[in-house]
Amino acid sequence: MDKLIIKGGKKLKGEVTVSGSKNAALPIFVATILAPGINQISNVPFLRDINTTIKVLESLGASVEGNGHVVKIDSDGINSHEATYDLVKTMRASVLVLGPLLARFGKARVSLPGGCAIGARPINLHLKGLQALGAEIVLEHGYVEAKCKRLKGARINFDVSTVGGTEHLMMAAATAKGETVLENAAREPEIVDLAQYLNRMGAKIEGAGTDTIRIQGVSELSAANYEVMPDRIEAGTFMIAAAMTGGDIRINDMKLEHLDALAFKMQDAGVEITSRDGVVRVKAPKRLKSVNIKTRPYPGFPTDMQAQFMAMMCVADGASVISENIFENRFMHVSELLRFGADITVEGNTATVKGVRKLSGAPSMATDLRASASLILAGLAAEGTSEVTRIYHLDRGYESIEKKLAGLGADIVRVKE
Ligand code: EPU
Repeated sequence: MDKLIIKGGKKLKGEVTVSGSKNAALPIFVATILAPGINQISNVPFLRDINTTIKVLESLGASVEGNGHVVKIDSDGINSHEATYDLVKTMRASVLVLGPLLARFGKARVSLPGGCAIGARPINLHLKGLQALGAEIVLEHGYVEAKCKRLKGARINFDVSTVGGTEHLMMAAATAKGETVLENAAREPEIVDLAQYLNRMGAKIEGAGTDTIRIQGVSELSAANYEVMPDRIEAGTFMIAAAMTGGDIRINDMKLEHLDALAFKMQDAGVEITSRDGVVRVKAPKRLKSVNIKTRPYPGFPTDMQAQFMAMMCVADGASVISENIFENRFMHVSELLRFGADITVEGNTATVKGVRKLSGAPSMATDLRASASLILAGLAAEGTSEVTRIYHLDRGYESIEKKLAGLGADIVRVKE
């Protein structure tokens, strides 16, 4: 198993380029099931979750060819309609194959994903939506078994904003008979990216990025090429790395408009953020100020940036109150951040962080993807040497983060344990 060793205290300087978005690429890969033929997807990040998605598609009968950051998915040969427990348990997003398989073959059998470190993460809204589109669904021995003739358009109103649920139903409805309206839909940029790809394949989807998405079902979709959007969470993580280390960096290939909620809070904390010709410059203040955040669905503050923001507040002047409103167990980084000398107390879904002048290097263990990032950030800002173990979580979602940070002047290496 690999671990990271970080010697903290280096001010980050220079330029870094953001990779393609994990959370946009995953559903886009899954959507290829809907369009037999060769789909060429570019700006694909090199990540463990992408490899898992490729394995899922291959297990269904697709042929996948990767060439750098460009992946060709030939979904013509798909002949299985089953995603097994082995695959779904390694990555929850695999469950998204259910709707597209159902739409293409009229049947699907997909393992239930179960919970994960950050929460129970049910898929009840995905299943309720598919039922509204006319699928017959039974749950048996941990599997969802679904069948239908042709899915039929329907009006679906989500009880809570769900990114995966919105993506799932948008894919399933693309070839349903008639119109589907998704109300109280999630508005994340990754949903817009998926809708653009589906439209490139011939779907008729309007309103993605708002809370009402209208989908006119078409009889078939055809294979298409698409370039995945940049990863806003990776970009946000670099912004915080600069801010916490007294740095001054330029970030290429990021869309600052996808990170307004984060950027406003960072500016409140004293960080200078400017954008010119597609390059975002982030300059740290002498001393960060504390600010409060509440995670919310987009365009609110992203839960996927909460752990990293908390790491930053550990070295800010004053006290910061952080409320996590999306997942019920997303404070696992707190006990690890305490090892660095942070002062954090948690009550329910609220953490109070009292900034300290300096963190000190510490051994720590990653518990989930974004928690891993927060520990690296703490290590970069700390005095002395830190270790982050169990970084397989990190490899799910950050492409070569240690190399990119080293390119900005950080002293960080990956070693085998
Ligand atoms: N929810 C339900 N029922 C459902 C679906 C969701 O109650 O049927 C609840 C969840 O339990 C949660 C809330 O709704 O409390 C929001 O969950 P959502 O469905 O939006 O999350 P997701 O689609 O499972 C995606 C990202 C996550 C990100 C969340 C929220 C992907 C592959 N994953 O998950 O990314 O945190 O949206 O923005 O897109 C990460 O990258 O580290 C990560 C966890």
